[in-house]
Amino acid sequence: MRRKLAAGNWKMNGTTANLAEIEALAAAHPAPRCDVLICPPATLVAQMAWKAGKGPVAVGGQDCHPEVSGAHTGDVSAAMLADAGARYVIVGHSERRADHGETDALVRAKAEAAHAAGLVAIVCVGETETQRDAGETLDVIGAQLEGSVPAGATSANTVIAYEPVWAIGTGRTPTLDQIAEVHDFLRAGLAKRFADAGDMRLLYGGSVKPSNASEIFATSNVDGALVGGASLKAADFGAIVAALDAS
Ligand code: PGA
Repeated sequence: MRRKLAAGNWKMNGTTANLAEIEALAAAHPAPRCDVLICPPATLVAQMAWKAGKGPVAVGGQDCHPEVSGAHTGDVSAAMLADAGARYVIVGHSERRADHGETDALVRAKAEAAHAAGLVAIVCVGETETQRDAGETLDVIGAQLEGSVPAGATSANTVIAYEPVWAIGTGRTPTLDQIAEVHDFLRAGLAKRFADAGDMRLLYGGSVKPSNASEIFATSNVDGALVGGASLKAADFGAIVAALDAS
């Protein structure tokens, strides 16, 4: 049985004032059946992890550098995130791939760094609208999966997130059949490389909100969600956690 995961990605949002959201989330969902994760900006990881304590909400980073330390101004290593109390880190988010030119090879190196630091890597893949319209979706995702997921990935240290670029922050989502097609393809692709692919968690991300969470969670091979905008408020994210628990 795959333990489901509701992951929130705050992106470049949140200051110390927003730490109250995690307390509200933990208070409203003290014992969820699924795993619950918030990935705040790096500035908040340590404080959020301290506030989260041994409660139901885990904390993660949104990116990491592939090296442990060194002359990389402005970067944060996986080891530093782990030291700050993170248990997960997102790698290869499409905003990183687009804004910072991250390649599959770099994303793979970041995932390896996450594993070395004892973090679970959430490796993101997803097609652009142009690629979908050109019928290239599965080719693009297959190549990203092959190039971004390191050989050492296991169901314990790696989660895959399918996030169509055109669905992120737009309010648009693929049809449930389109989500199922990609998630089934991901499961089959992972099975060719990893013995425990059947236990790896596959998240859907892109405009998940309380009103569409239940139907997405009922879709084939969807083990949870990576949520941006709707993770910022405890009430909205809590409703998504509740939908995942009920699925
Ligand atoms: P969104 O973002 O939920 O705001 O669409 C998802 C993500 O980028 O992880």
